[in-house]
Amino acid sequence: MIIFSLETSCDETACAVLKYENGSFSILSNIVSSQVKIHAKWGGVVPNLAAREHLKNILPVIKQALQEAKVQPKEINFLSVTNQPGLIPALLIGTSVAKTLAYLWQKPLIGIHHLEGHIYANFIDLNLNSQKINFPLLSLVVSGGHTQLVFMKKHLDYQIIGETLDDAVGEAFDKVARILSLGYPGGPLIAEKARLFKSQPTAHYQFLKVPLPRPMIRSDNLNFSFSGLKTAVLYETKKNKTLLKNKDYINELCNEFQQATIDVLIFKTLRAIEKYRPQTVLLAGGVAANQELQKQLATVLKEKNSTLHFIAPPIQYCGDNATMIGVASYFRWKNMTNQQKEQSQINWKTLQTKANARLKN
Ligand code: KG4
Ligand code: ZN
Repeated sequence: MIIFSLETSCDETACAVLKYENGSFSILSNIVSSQVKIHAKWGGVVPNLAAREHLKNILPVIKQALQEAKVQPKEINFLSVTNQPGLIPALLIGTSVAKTLAYLWQKPLIGIHHLEGHIYANFIDLNLNSQKINFPLLSLVVSGGHTQLVFMKKHLDYQIIGETLDDAVGEAFDKVARILSLGYPGGPLIAEKARLFKSQPTAHYQFLKVPLPRPMIRSDNLNFSFSGLKTAVLYETKKNKTLLKNKDYINELCNEFQQATIDVLIFKTLRAIEKYRPQTVLLAGGVAANQELQKQLATVLKEKNSTLHFIAPPIQYCGDNATMIGVASYFRWKNMTNQQKEQSQINWKTLQTKANARLKN
């Protein structure tokens, strides 16, 4: 089975061609054209600039993906595209192009929720015949736009059991990086400063007098809040303006900020495990690329419950890409009735975009 997929919900124009055979996916091509350099000036994604760049890049990206995959349109079984949630001007480009191609090639088209794609990035490298993922499953979804704990009793079945009440964790990384004038996107930059701090022979704090807050860590629910943590970093830097050029201070502050987010994410995940008793925990979204988060979560889960299986996506598929959309659409397709498959033949006409859709079955 050959799947052609597109992703343009934020600031990456992405196209992938996948082959599914004997329980596993082969990635025939995976093209990602990133706009981060363009948005870096503004410290965040500017929706209309994103749309302009998608428009410019999408056809060359598709051409390259088809050429690398050495696939003719007639060999493709179906198309899939991220149609929700995201920046509307950006979603519209990918969705309109996918609809045009579905019409032109006379193929079924499947709309995919962006977070479903991030969750299914965990299945890219698995052999579905031999490597069984046991349900129920708990997903910790951490991206630039979302922070959610999602409980899944089976494939494509989502119950959001906790989420952020304000900023997403990736957004907090980006905003803190902006406060510290580090650049955009902030996640990898802060992670690198924290790594430098940790790699010192004596990695103890010399500047920070009090720890940063761990917001809502003790609250009796599974929700998160990261906006106060970002503000605490802002106050800390206002108090210590003269230290802002001191690399050791910045590294220390980045480590403390990163550790505060990790502490909260781990604590709430453990609370969710206690309540919902999953057999598998998976990490998803751009922030899943954070090695310290992966390492600490894996260690704690092993200590607490050695039978619990922990998985994270291959690092190159943590951020936005179209391969994860293709993999999610395979599971959708497999689950469809013949009537639903028939219906997807006319999605070239009917598929719509949604800016704020929640993950649902
Ligand atoms: O999933 P993603 O690529 O886009 C959205 O769906 O939002 O996530 C992007 C976010 C950005 O906020 C970026 O700073 C963050 O993921 N990120 C990281 C790391 N790599 C990317 N955050 C922490 N540590 C990282 N290594
Ligand atoms: Zn994403």
